[in-house]
Amino acid sequence: MYIGIDLGTTGVKVLLVDGRGNLLNSVTETYELLTPRPLWTEQNPGDWYESALRAIRKCIAGHETEIKALSFSGQMHGLVILDEADRIIRPALLWNDQRTISETDSLNREIGIENLLEETGNIALTGFTAPKILWVKNNEPENYRKIRKIMLPKDYLAYRFTGNFVSDVSDISGSLLFDVKNKTYSRKMLDFLGIDSGMLPKVLESKEVAGMLTEKVRGKLGIPQPVKVIVGGGDQAIGAVGTGTVSGGDINISLGTSGVVFVATDAYAADRKSFLHSFAHANGKYHLMGVTLAAAGSLKWWKESFRPEKSYDEIFSDLIKTESDDTLYYLPYIFGERSPVNNPLAKGTFSGFCATHGPEHFSRAVVEGVTFSLRHCYEAIKNLNIESKQIRITGGGAKNDHWCQMVADVFNIAVQRPAITEGSSFGAAIMAMVGDGLFPDVQEACADLVRVEKEFLPIAENVRIYEKKYRNYLRLYKNIEPFFEMIRE
Ligand code: XUL
Repeated sequence: MYIGIDLGTTGVKVLLVDGRGNLLNSVTETYELLTPRPLWTEQNPGDWYESALRAIRKCIAGHETEIKALSFSGQMHGLVILDEADRIIRPALLWNDQRTISETDSLNREIGIENLLEETGNIALTGFTAPKILWVKNNEPENYRKIRKIMLPKDYLAYRFTGNFVSDVSDISGSLLFDVKNKTYSRKMLDFLGIDSGMLPKVLESKEVAGMLTEKVRGKLGIPQPVKVIVGGGDQAIGAVGTGTVSGGDINISLGTSGVVFVATDAYAADRKSFLHSFAHANGKYHLMGVTLAAAGSLKWWKESFRPEKSYDEIFSDLIKTESDDTLYYLPYIFGERSPVNNPLAKGTFSGFCATHGPEHFSRAVVEGVTFSLRHCYEAIKNLNIESKQIRITGGGAKNDHWCQMVADVFNIAVQRPAITEGSSFGAAIMAMVGDGLFPDVQEACADLVRVEKEFLPIAENVRIYEKKYRNYLRLYKNIEPFFEMIRE
C-alpha cells in the first residue's frame, strides 16, 4: 500500500491507496496559520511534522505492515531555515506572504527581468523563496547569520523522515535559485544572493527516492518494515499528476486555497508576455502556470467573516438562487495577487451592490470573481498559443458541482472532474507507486489510475452572460488599480 501526503496551508491531508490506486482512507490534520502583521503569513514547521505523523498514524491504522512507500506534495515557495544543530531558526515564511515587496523590486531591478528570465525562467515575485531569503538578510541579520540549511516545506518533512537533505525539480523551480531549463542551481543567483550551495538541498527528479523512513519515524508510526520515501514535488505539479495532466498541452485547474491554471508542456519555455510561472513538472518535463492567491481562500474568508453559521454547501445552494446577470463584482485580491496582474498591493474589492442585495448575492460575486481571475490566467496561457478542448479540475472547490459548472461556463470549455478530487495527495500516492517501480513512468501510472467521474459542458446562455461580466471584471481592475498604487507611494 502507498501513502500520499499533501502538506497544505490549512492542514496536511494523508491518503492511503492500494497498488491499483483504490482509495482506502483519508485523514486531514489542521494547523495554525500565523499572521503576525498585515501581509505576513507564517507557519511552524514543527507543526507540519507533528500533524503529518498524527494524520499518517490515523490513516494507516490496521495496515501498518502493508506500507511500501510514501511521497509528498507540498505548498510551494515557503522558506524553512535551520541552524547548525538543525533547529528551526524562525517560523517559515509562506507562499502567500507579501512582505518582500522591496526585495522583489530590487531583484527585478538589480539583476534585471531579462537576466532573471534567462537564468531561472521566471521573474521575482513576492511569494518566491529568494526574496524571502533576502528579506531575512535585510531585516533579521542575527537569524540570517545562523542559517546552515535552506529548504522548502515538504523538504523539511522529507528531512525529518529520512535524514536526507533533498528537494525535487518541480518545487525548487519556485525558489528563483534554480535554472529551470537546465535543472540545476543558478550560479549567478547564488552568487548574487551570497548563498553557499552547501546550504541548499540536493535536487532530484520528483519520482526519485529521497531515502528510507528512519527507524525512529517507523517506530512512531508502528511500521516494522522498511519504507521508501519518494521525494514528490510542489503541490501544483503533483496535483496535476493526480488529475492526469501530464501530456504536453493538457490543462488543469486547481481550486484550493490558491487557484491555479496549469499547462503541461513537453519543452521548456519562459513566458515573456505575462510572466506565468515556468517550472519543471513532476513527470520529468515542464509546465507553465498562473496562480490566483485567494481562490477557495476567498470563499473561506467570506464564509468565516460573514456567513459562519452556513456550510459551504448551503452557501452554494443560496447563491444559485440568485441571477448570474447581476451588477455585483468581486476582485479576489485579498492577499494581493500574482498572475497575471502580479501586484502584491492589489486588494479585494466588491463593486456594484445595491439595497436589494443580500449575502447570497455577495457569495455569488465571490465565486464568480475567483473564476474570472482564473480565466484571466487561462487567457495568458492562450496568448502563448496553447489551447485545449477540455480541462481537468481538482482541489477542495472542485467537489462542488456548481463551481465546476461555473468554470465550464466562464471558460467556455468542457471541464472534467476525476473520481478522486484530492489531486495533490492522490498525485503524491501515484508518485510513491512510480518511485516504488509499480509503473515505468508517471504518464503510464496516470493513464492507468486516473479516471474521469463527471464532465461539465458549457451552457450557451451562461457563456454569453459571463463573457460580458468577465470583460467588466477586467475593466474594474484596470480602473481601480491606481488606488492600490497610490497607497504604494
Ligand atoms: C504555487 C503556489 C501555491 C501554493 C499553495 O505557485 O504558490 O499554489 O503552492 O499551496
